Amino acid sequence: MTTRDELEATIARIVQPGKGIVAADESMPTITKRFKAVGIDSTEETRRQYRQLLFTTRGVSEFVAGFILFEETLGQKADDGTPLAEVLVRQGVLPGIKVDKGTTPLPNADGDLITQGLDGLSERLKAYKVQGARFAKWREVYGVTDRNPTPLGIEANAEVLARYAAICQSEGIVPIVEPEVLIDGDHTLERCHEVSDAVLHAVFSALHRHGVRLECMVLKPSMVLPGKGHPPKASPEVVAANTLEVLRRNVPAAVPTINFLSGGQSPEEATANLNAMNIMAPDKPWVLSFSYARALQDPPMKLWVGRAENVRAAQQAFYQRLKMNSLARDGKYRVELEKAA
Ligand code: 13P
Repeated sequence: MTTRDELEATIARIVQPGKGIVAADESMPTITKRFKAVGIDSTEETRRQYRQLLFTTRGVSEFVAGFILFEETLGQKADDGTPLAEVLVRQGVLPGIKVDKGTTPLPNADGDLITQGLDGLSERLKAYKVQGARFAKWREVYGVTDRNPTPLGIEANAEVLARYAAICQSEGIVPIVEPEVLIDGDHTLERCHEVSDAVLHAVFSALHRHGVRLECMVLKPSMVLPGKGHPPKASPEVVAANTLEVLRRNVPAAVPTINFLSGGQSPEEATANLNAMNIMAPDKPWVLSFSYARALQDPPMKLWVGRAENVRAAQQAFYQRLKMNSLARDGKYRVELEKAA
């Protein structure tokens, strides 16, 4: 198989009807924070048990094309000794891997961040591929103020995302390109629209400059929303109209699929917003699906709380969120279906 064949085979799996991606790739500090919020101790063992719970949920492959893993998980095994990545493969789900090494302040761009981890990336990808990974994820983060992100921040982050994507494709790994405009802050929806537009414009310009094959990538953007500190929340129709406008202006039709992050929206909100977009844009050139972490995992994590006797209930809650988002991916979700479950 050529590298291009590998990329195309993986993309074909990711865009399968009714399916999306689960981000279960929280870094050590992030999973520790999420666990702590519901009273779970974060140890190598609790993290293993928790990821096993998600991966072994019966029927996940009805709604999930791939799981994004953290490096630690890729090396862990299920109770019966099967590598967790192999558990996914047996479920009919692709394992992917978060490959960035987190953010650091960007000098001379006061308030902006830049993501690290490009050095040695191709060697790491080769090793992850041997462990089963078929796609990767890299996140750049953009905080919003009146001044941020700065023009330098927008350009520098785009350049790094494009370099990462080009390296992935050269190794036969499909890149998930994730520019996240943060929900934190008291900015308006209009400001988020303006920032998202500038960010995506720069990202696609950089992807073009670096020769990234758009047909073999996944875009993982944030939705256009008002800041958390700027109530009230916008309706799904307003979020959908604004997000679609920004996407149409910036994302070439060659990109096969856009899988959103949830970014601090509640589970029901993230589902309703995705659904509204799919209803509003039957003519869209890309698949519009999900790659949520919190909006899929919050309910099961709260039910599990680290106890073996809660595994089944947690898996049922996870399955329910996946099912709702699978419907939303086709514009077929209705809020009454939440109550019915
Ligand atoms: P959230 O859906 O919780 O925003 O996480 C998605 C993700 O993968 C962030 O990198």
